Amino acid sequence: MSTYATVVLAAGKGTRMRSKLSKVLQPLAGIPLLEHVLHAVETIPTATSLISSSLSLETHRPIVVVGHESEQIRATFAERCLYAYQTEQLGTGHAVLAARSVVEELKPLPDTILVCYGDTPLISNEVLARVLHEHLTQHATITFLTAYAEPDSDFGRIVRDVHGRVREIVEVKRASEEQKQIREVNSGIYCFARAWLWTALQALPRNPSGEYYLTDLIAIAAQQGHVVATVRGSLDETIGINNRVQLAEAEKLLRRRILEQHMYAGVTIVDPDTTYIERGVQIGMDTVIWPSTMITGQTVIGEDCRIGPGTTIDQSVIGNRCIVRNSVVEQSTLEDGASMGPFSHTRAGAHLGQNVRMGNFAEIKNSYLGSESDMHHFSYLGDATVGEHVNIAAGTITSNYDGQRKHRTVIENEAFIGCDTILIAPVTVGEGAYTGAGSVVTTDVAPHALVVGVPARLLRMLHSSDAASSSEESDKKE
Ligand code: UD1
Ligand code: MG
Repeated sequence: MSTYATVVLAAGKGTRMRSKLSKVLQPLAGIPLLEHVLHAVETIPTATSLISSSLSLETHRPIVVVGHESEQIRATFAERCLYAYQTEQLGTGHAVLAARSVVEELKPLPDTILVCYGDTPLISNEVLARVLHEHLTQHATITFLTAYAEPDSDFGRIVRDVHGRVREIVEVKRASEEQKQIREVNSGIYCFARAWLWTALQALPRNPSGEYYLTDLIAIAAQQGHVVATVRGSLDETIGINNRVQLAEAEKLLRRRILEQHMYAGVTIVDPDTTYIERGVQIGMDTVIWPSTMITGQTVIGEDCRIGPGTTIDQSVIGNRCIVRNSVVEQSTLEDGASMGPFSHTRAGAHLGQNVRMGNFAEIKNSYLGSESDMHHFSYLGDATVGEHVNIAAGTITSNYDGQRKHRTVIENEAFIGCDTILIAPVTVGEGAYTGAGSVVTTDVAPHALVVGVPARLLRMLHSSDAASSSEESDKKE
């Protein structure tokens, strides 16, 4: 049984990002950079390349080296990680050394230290497992991941001798013009033999910029005649985020990866270039996502839906066969067959029952609209509970706020709210009741009553035949 520990470097300020927020907390596809890295690290044991090999491995919680914004990082990841402090940011070599005491307290003690950087969010558990596998089977002192990049990249360059053996990594700042032309670069993922690592780190030279580069360990190991192995990865997985241009590049790569997963799982994405879906989103088969649509947070969308164009959905649950066109849906629930839009907005706590039809320029907040109800045009429901088969006609408004407190409106089954009705909450409109066009309802309306006027007064009680004819005269459902 071999044991490894993972050290993730996250203490740097991220100066090139020019932000008040720590670099490793910058969101990528809605999730902090460091969260992406931790997810890859934590799922190494499930990587197929390790499972199919005969290696038997044990590990510990990842150790995150923190410095800048350390409290913010600890608050975000809490007990999920162990933490080591790098009080002064003197480079990546210095940062790994800062983890020494935490590593040395682990039981069982790891033989191998896997090091990765908190700013390489696209790495996968598979690539980390491949580096570990190569390291252990080669009995190497150092194994690290390389990739091929364009000549103008800011990665460290891999210098090899005529036999192809690695001699050193040269950082761009220190590279000669000839070395800058080298396309093989350092991805920033390494395995080290623990027995060798700490002494070698203490021997690192301080470079002219005042930092101790982890990458200088390669030349030290090579000169000492140790085995230095490399694994080839793809740049798409190892892009390092130092500035917002690289953040946007990573966003594009990750976005495409997420969209492809949905497409392979049976979701039609009409225009991947203008569709943005965050990682936690789930979408059912045969749902079609039209252009310029953004789906974020822990949103769940069912099967056979039509979403978009021009739609934003955040933190919401959408059932099967729903239609949402040119609308904004936030922290809302739409049950099967519900439809909304174009140009409508559901806010926190909106809940549309089965087959609810919500048309254009309508807004709902913290309200339930029962199944088969209609709310077609220019209306606002806030803090309301609406029954089934209710018609909310054009211009209806719940006046739910008296300047100090919010009040509820209740509209019971089969009620018919006429055009331009204002409901002054708290108020209840009884089952099968009608409000005439332009009414201002200030007191409760009895079931099957027809009220009209400002303030609304009882005109008469309705029988079911009245209700049908009144509905025809008034604003018809469309
Ligand atoms: C580093 C590598 C470079 C490689 C690239 C891959 C070094 C010297 N260079 O360069 O060869 O191609 O990553 O992305 O390692 N950090 C600390 N403490 C420090 C300094 C940095 O914890 O004192 C952390 C940062 O928070 C960051 C990571 O280490 O997460 C890498 O540091 P960064 O400054 O981004 O290194 P690069 O210039 O990208
Ligand atoms: Mg970097």
